Amino acid sequence: MSEVDVCVVGLGYIGLPTSLVLATSGSNVHGVDISDTVVEQLNAGQATFEEPGLQECLDAAIATNNLSVSNRTVPASTYIIAVPTPIGSDRSPDISYVLAAAAQIAVHIQSGSLVILESTSPVGTTEAVAKAIYSSRDDLDPGDIFLAHCPERVIPGHMLHEITTNDRVVGGLSFEDAEKAADLYRTFCTGSIHLTDARTAELTKLAENSFRDVNIAFANELSMLADELGVDAWDVISLANKHPRVNILQPGPGVGGHCIAVDPWFLISSAPSTTELIRAARNVNDSKPLFVNRQIVQEVKSSGRNSVAILGLAFKANVDDLRGSPAVEIVERLALENTDLMIHVAEPFVSELPERLGGFPNVRLESLESCLDREEIVVLLVDHDQFKNIDSTVLSTKRLIDTRGLWRELNV
Ligand SMILES: NC(=O)c1ccc[n+]([C@@H]2O[C@H](COP(=O)([O-])OP(=O)(O)OC[C@H]3O[C@@H](n4cnc5c(N)ncnc54)[C@H](O)[C@@H]3O)[C@@H](O)[C@H]2O)c1
Repeated sequence: MSEVDVCVVGLGYIGLPTSLVLATSGSNVHGVDISDTVVEQLNAGQATFEEPGLQECLDAAIATNNLSVSNRTVPASTYIIAVPTPIGSDRSPDISYVLAAAAQIAVHIQSGSLVILESTSPVGTTEAVAKAIYSSRDDLDPGDIFLAHCPERVIPGHMLHEITTNDRVVGGLSFEDAEKAADLYRTFCTGSIHLTDARTAELTKLAENSFRDVNIAFANELSMLADELGVDAWDVISLANKHPRVNILQPGPGVGGHCIAVDPWFLISSAPSTTELIRAARNVNDSKPLFVNRQIVQEVKSSGRNSVAILGLAFKANVDDLRGSPAVEIVERLALENTDLMIHVAEPFVSELPERLGGFPNVRLESLESCLDREEIVVLLVDHDQFKNIDSTVLSTKRLIDTRGLWRELNV
């Protein structure tokens, strides 16, 4: 039995909370990341991103002496892969990080070890991980190691609660593989654990995120359609949802982040001729930022002003994650195409502009108060709690573009 119970490869939004929850539940955990910054920060006892309760959980894990962190994969009984699975510029899935992690693990793995792929992956990736490991280890025979895909469904902002309480789907290359992986999740997960095969687990995760994307696309399309017809989309949605079997989601400025906006492409790429609806939804959601840009430019022209306030850059409310954020895309296009327009951005979750916006002389990060004091046109792109609390008398003096319907609820 190796000294380390679980070696978690990749300590980002998924790998870090998973490592901490495992460590505080009694497993001896070694976390690995190729980023020196991540390793240094964690070894200094500092959480690497904003998430409620994360710092406290890191403190608790360190106090157990069950957690170590480095940039080297080490021998362990179980390996969890939690590395990125992005799409390339042609939107095809890039599983190179997963295969690199598999290669790191292959060096140390022993007969009887368990490998769990947590990264959201195209159908067939767990089999590809098995192939990568076995092809580099002549001494192992197929079936010597246990392999399973256990996708993660946590929502940023509630990760530590959901990681322990959500139901889990555990898909093994064989039933024994699934059972072995389920045993690990039972050490910290109070939700139900559903056993299946790896391909079904892979498709289930992709189906979940594509379902969300398609439903958000309906809301976004409806919001653009309502605007064209001169009707308030939020009124329509609220009234339509009085129907006992209708539940239309809320529109927004687009769909961002690295999950819902990315994972449907894994399906489109795997089965291009049978994913028409999923592709159409992606295109609708990708078109929404451009629609918002046109709204802002129109408001600027009709007001005669040469500056705007933008509230929010994150891809969703109350997180510091700007990856794939439609808000960043909107500000970037606005800055690029309107060089005379001064753009004052308030984003309480970051202390500096992201690289994509940092080079624009007409984009500045400012406090919410200064944005509201100075600007007549106020564009809400993210429904952070802090923006909910803005005094409605202040808002009533502004020209508002509320892409989230946040202030509508406040009856401004
Ligand atoms: N963030 C979420 O809310 C969420 C939810 C569900 C599923 N997922 C999926 O989980 C996976 C991980 O996502 P994330 O948000 O944690 O990504 P992330 O970018 O936050 O973290 C990944 C980490 O892996 C590290 N890394 C990359 N290659 C490595 C290697 N070979 N060895 C060691 N470390 C390596 C990176 O430096 C990074 O710190 C993705 O497949 C994602 O789609 C994410």
